[in-house]
Amino acid sequence: MSPSTALVLSLKVMDNFAFVIHPLDPKRDVARKYPLLARVLPTSLIHFFSRFWPPLYISHVTGVRSEATGKEIEGWLVACPFTARQMVHLPPRTVYKKIVQTGHLAQRLDAHLLGLGAFTSVVGDGGVTIAQNLDIPVTTGHSLTVAVVVEALMKAARGRGVRPESATAAVVGATGSIGSACAQLLAPMVAELILIGRRRSRGTGAGTGTGTGAVTAPLLAQMQAQIEAEGTCLVRTSTCIEDIREADMVLSATSAARPIIEPQHLKHGAVVCDVALPSDVSPQVVRERDDVLLIAGGRVDVPGEVDLGFDFGLPPGQAYACMAEAMVLALEGRYEDYSLGKQIQIAQVREIARLARKHGFKISS
Ligand SMILES: NC(=O)c1ccc[n+]([C@@H]2O[C@H](COP(=O)([O-])OP(=O)(O)OC[C@H]3O[C@@H](n4cnc5c(N)ncnc54)[C@H](OP(=O)(O)O)[C@@H]3O)[C@@H](O)[C@H]2O)c1
Repeated sequence: MSPSTALVLSLKVMDNFAFVIHPLDPKRDVARKYPLLARVLPTSLIHFFSRFWPPLYISHVTGVRSEATGKEIEGWLVACPFTARQMVHLPPRTVYKKIVQTGHLAQRLDAHLLGLGAFTSVVGDGGVTIAQNLDIPVTTGHSLTVAVVVEALMKAARGRGVRPESATAAVVGATGSIGSACAQLLAPMVAELILIGRRRSRGTGAGTGTGTGAVTAPLLAQMQAQIEAEGTCLVRTSTCIEDIREADMVLSATSAARPIIEPQHLKHGAVVCDVALPSDVSPQVVRERDDVLLIAGGRVDVPGEVDLGFDFGLPPGQAYACMAEAMVLALEGRYEDYSLGKQIQIAQVREIARLARKHGFKISS
């Protein structure tokens, strides 16, 4: 066998993953791939053209290496051109179709597993339809995201002298996939939990017609009953964002696709973890509230010398937790639908967190 054949064979057998990204901030993110185009096109035209743009190959990910086994994997970033706004407003079927086309691109690259980033995992049924229409397994990355953001919030709170066991925590977007799982994990660790949602029952309030087509979202009362049954903390519900003003710790994970938390909503000295992509927290909070600690949740340090081949605006060596979940599964050689659907299994959250720790993934500070 010639050295070049051996190299090709060794590349073929390397464990791998692909991960779907999409523009969150149209101008900024299009500029990362097409600087000239982003300069001349107004945002409205970027939104318009992105409907007709085909899926894109973005980069080859290298250098992810397990600290436990020394195994190295590779990956590919592929982009679904829809912006977050389009993912929310277009019919879920139209969005699924484009994400599945992006998945086909990953299959042609010989990817063994597809991770769904940002709104590609939020839309509709949380990856189920997408997995049904692809030949490779799919994961939303939500299990590791939940583990990482809850741990990051607890660590940040303790670092600021907040004692979680006597503190009030608020979860914004508490009826969502990530929000509801975070609320369940936080409940035994805090004194009181405020669950913030948009509506108390289906078809009421501002919450109708998100366009994300969420199908199995638990309502606030169900969430409250479920957590109260465990008897670990006091639970209150609210549909007013203003009520987070009573919280020492805030975890926000909505699919609003625009800032909903403003400086006046936050308690003095609050610790806030913003999981949402795009952010739930207004940039004004950083400008006007230096008493508040804001952490961007869901980021991890990747073991090895990772090169994502694309500038996400993250410091070198970091990745989003949802992307890291695909990396962990590839390091384990576990090519299976892992986090899928809107109900996150707490057992899976604990398992993927344990596997991530084993391979050397760490919460970014
Ligand atoms: N950092 C990471 O690594 C990472 C990974 C994955 C996902 N994410 C982000 O996490 C967020 C949540 O994802 P998910 O899958 O949990 O979404 P989801 O299941 O659709 O839940 C979203 C929640 O947000 C609420 N919501 C939507 N629009 C709102 C508004 N205008 N005001 C207040 N609440 C609103 C929804 O309420 P209704 O029930 O009333 O619709 C629902 O409770 C997304 O922004 C996603 O991009 C981050």
